Amino acid sequence: MRVALMILLGLVIGIIGTANVMSTLAARNPMPKAVMATMNYHMDALSQALKSKQCAAIGIQHHLERVQSTATDIAPTFGIPDQPFTDAATLLQTRVTQALQSSPADCPALAAAVKSVGEACKSCHDKYR
Ligand code: HEC
Repeated sequence: MRVALMILLGLVIGIIGTANVMSTLAARNPMPKAVMATMNYHMDALSQALKSKQCAAIGIQHHLERVQSTATDIAPTFGIPDQPFTDAATLLQTRVTQALQSSPADCPALAAAVKSVGEACKSCHDKYR
C-alpha cells in the first residue's frame, strides 16, 4: 500500500514538474506561437470577409501581405532543421505569393486563395503540430 502511494506521489510530482518545465520553455520563446497567431488572425479576417461577402481587393491584399511577411519568420523562429519542415514553410510562401499575384478582387477568387493557403497551413500542421 505504502509503495503504491509513493509511486503515485512520484507520478504526480513528475507530471507537475513536466508541466512546469514545458510552460517555462514556452514562455522563454513566445515567437513561434506569436507568428502562428498573427497568421491566424489574418487568415481569420479573410474567412470573415468571405462569410460577410465583403471581398474588396484592398483588404484582401493587406491580409495576404501580412501572412506573406509573417510566414518568413517561421523558419528562423521555430528553428526546426528538418527538410520537410522547411519545405512546408516554403510551400506556404509559394501559395501566398501565388494568391497575391492572382490579385483576388471578388469572393470566388478570395475563396480559392484562402483554400490554397489554408492547405499549406494544414499540410505542415498534420505533420508538426
Ligand atoms: C512549416 C510549418 C507550419 C506552417 C506552414 C504553418 N504552421 Fe501553424 N503551427 C506549426 C507548428 C509546429 C505549431 C505548434 C506550435 C506550438 O505549439 O508551439 C503551429 C501552431 C499553430 C497555431 C496554434 C498556436 C498556439 O498558440 O498554440 C495556429 C493558430 C496556427 N499554427 C496557424 C497557422 C496558419 C493560419 C497557418 C497558415 C497561414 C500556419 N499555421 C502555417 C507549424 C506550421
